[in-house]
Amino acid sequence: MLTEIAAARDAALAEIDAAPSLDELSALASRLTGKRGRLATLKSGLGALASVEEKKRAGQAVNEALAAVSAALDARRSSLAADALAERVARERLDLTEVTAVPGRGHAHLVTQAWERLEDVFVGLGFRIAEGPEVETDWHNFEALNMGEGHPARGEFDTLFLDHVAPGGAPGSTVLRTHTSPVQIRTMLQQRPPIFIVAPGRVFRRDTPDATHMPVFHQIEGLVVDRDITMADLAGTIEAFTKAFFGAEFTSRLRPSYFPFTEPSAEFDIQRPNGEWIELGGCGMVHPNVLRAGGLDPEEWSGFAFGFGIDRMAKERHGVEDLREMYSDDLRFVRQF
Ligand code: PHE
Repeated sequence: MLTEIAAARDAALAEIDAAPSLDELSALASRLTGKRGRLATLKSGLGALASVEEKKRAGQAVNEALAAVSAALDARRSSLAADALAERVARERLDLTEVTAVPGRGHAHLVTQAWERLEDVFVGLGFRIAEGPEVETDWHNFEALNMGEGHPARGEFDTLFLDHVAPGGAPGSTVLRTHTSPVQIRTMLQQRPPIFIVAPGRVFRRDTPDATHMPVFHQIEGLVVDRDITMADLAGTIEAFTKAFFGAEFTSRLRPSYFPFTEPSAEFDIQRPNGEWIELGGCGMVHPNVLRAGGLDPEEWSGFAFGFGIDRMAKERHGVEDLREMYSDDLRFVRQF
């Protein structure tokens, strides 16, 4: 009897080991452990054994054999399942080599690069970054900047108006900001001096695109308000910026000009090492009316502001001939920078 049990167990284990798939294994399992299985048959034949001692030993042997079979079934089941999963993963693997045939990451656009470097340089000079909305009120964009209704300077901005009417606003008083200067007003209304901020951002004008104009472009605004700020601080800051951004061989100058929101006002130019001058932007001492609109007493506070085009600057810096190329999505252009 014991030899028969051992033989039945070994045959079962060999079959389990050889089961080629999960389906076949489960058929095998019901055959081996079911009532009609060889071990079950042997078990029910135990009663015919002569002595109690024999019954006991044979019974224990059958139970051990059944336990061994069921352990072997479990082990085979998990190994077949692991094989099946590995095979499925291999079968469904996506081969992306074609799509990523040109490895490598992209990079920031020329204008973004200039924008980020400007921020770095100004933060290095002690400025904070400020922000304002691209959709502005007439008040922030013009009125508070000393350009009341009917001010001739408004006409120079080629403003894009929105149909949207702000709560409490008159029709036609919502605009796409034409410059970053409204951020001066928003900053003054938000925080007390000392104020040292730059505000880079997108601005809009109703211009037909050509080599030097885009209807959407970028400016960076600077504003300093504190006690006893003078024109010398403005000139010194512009010069420090010029050297930090363009290099020690560059220098700057201010030329008298006019802006409604600064008094006195100037244009600032930078000089290349080869002696050539490039116009960069506008600047001046913050007009008393602008300080008042920002909630500050001009007797107590003074400040300077400046603003210039980021795209224009990137264009000059890299010798790009046509501004439109910067936005053409032509990768051959973009990849050069
Ligand atoms: N906002 C002006 C422009 O867009 C530039 C400027 C900013 C001039 C700040 C003076 C002071 O042309």
